[in-house]
Amino acid sequence: MSILIDDIGLLVTNDPERGPLTAERRDAAVIVDDGVIAWVGDRVDAPAADERIDAGGRCVIPGFVDSHSHLVFAGDRSEEFAARMSGHPYTAGGIRRTVALTREATDAELAANTARLVAEMRAQGTTTVEIKGGYGLTVDDEARSLMVAGSFTAETTYLGAHVVPPEFAGDPAGYVELVTGAMLDACAPHARWVDAFCDDGAFDVDQARSILTAGQARGLGARLHAGQLGESGGVRLAVELGAASVDHCTFLNEADVDALAAGSTVATLLPGVEFSTRQPYPDARRLLDAGVTVAIATDCNPGSSFTSSMPFCVALAVREMGMTPAEALWAATAGGAQALWRHDVGRVAVGARADFVVLDAPSYVHLAYRPGVPLVARVI
Ligand code: NIG
Ligand code: FE
Repeated sequence: MSILIDDIGLLVTNDPERGPLTAERRDAAVIVDDGVIAWVGDRVDAPAADERIDAGGRCVIPGFVDSHSHLVFAGDRSEEFAARMSGHPYTAGGIRRTVALTREATDAELAANTARLVAEMRAQGTTTVEIKGGYGLTVDDEARSLMVAGSFTAETTYLGAHVVPPEFAGDPAGYVELVTGAMLDACAPHARWVDAFCDDGAFDVDQARSILTAGQARGLGARLHAGQLGESGGVRLAVELGAASVDHCTFLNEADVDALAAGSTVATLLPGVEFSTRQPYPDARRLLDAGVTVAIATDCNPGSSFTSSMPFCVALAVREMGMTPAEALWAATAGGAQALWRHDVGRVAVGARADFVVLDAPSYVHLAYRPGVPLVARVI
């Protein structure tokens, strides 16, 4: 069945052939055939279709690609957030609280919580989401977390190396052995990606290297958390291993920026984290000016960033990270797609998936210009 999306006042295509960044078209139309984009052009030239959706002259953008989230967990940590807002710093220590609650939860409870958050994301225009495990930290709990994640997305990420769980407190090397051995055996069949948290209080560069390379040897793509709490060699490790993305990048030195600029690893910035931890925001301008490919994602999780809203993250990126509205929108759509090695999402082009957001606004600039206002009129 074919659908004509007609009377698009402003269409963001992200089509590299049409120019830099968002590549916009005015007075456009799109034909969708069986969920795939079949035609894009001026509305006056649009061919006939079985059905017609009227965009009413509004702005249409590609669905958001949220390339970093941790949705499989139980409970929340609102008290920890409140404590931070009265001056306590964020540390990775709170993760263990969520791990304890997640281990106690049933599969059905984990699936229901994940479904609720995926629905929140969808209502705010996210049409592709990556979901990590990382709150189970036993062989069985990581495997079931990935099975839950896999019922919502193909972009599932094995994060057994989130922190060292309490039962391995005296034996981090033993835990890395489990993560690269029996836990990987149980999780690899359910995962597309392998990730690790390479930062103060979590895993060091050597540990992260052995975890990512073990995952890569099993056919998983690599991605890495690095530079959230301090500078580490994690950013350069990610580039060296050909990771799809290195995420956070709040603390970077010159060598990190040079490595990112020379490599193909996307720098994924997560401004919801700095909002919720009162840390300084990452310097997107520095990365963009150096020629680094930047993505924006929510990092939705109960500790450091409990937002499911890509529009909120776009607004933060513009206001706090030195990005233009066009750069932020590109980073939240095409940038996220690149961070997941996906060519079929994040842009409006013939052959791509027909994932669109109709904004209740004449331009995507309103995403940052009108922060906190629900501007997603329709998700297609
Ligand atoms: O990406 N940094 C590591 N993991 C999450 C936080 C997890 C938590 O605090 O529960 C993150 O920010
Ligand atoms: Fe994260």
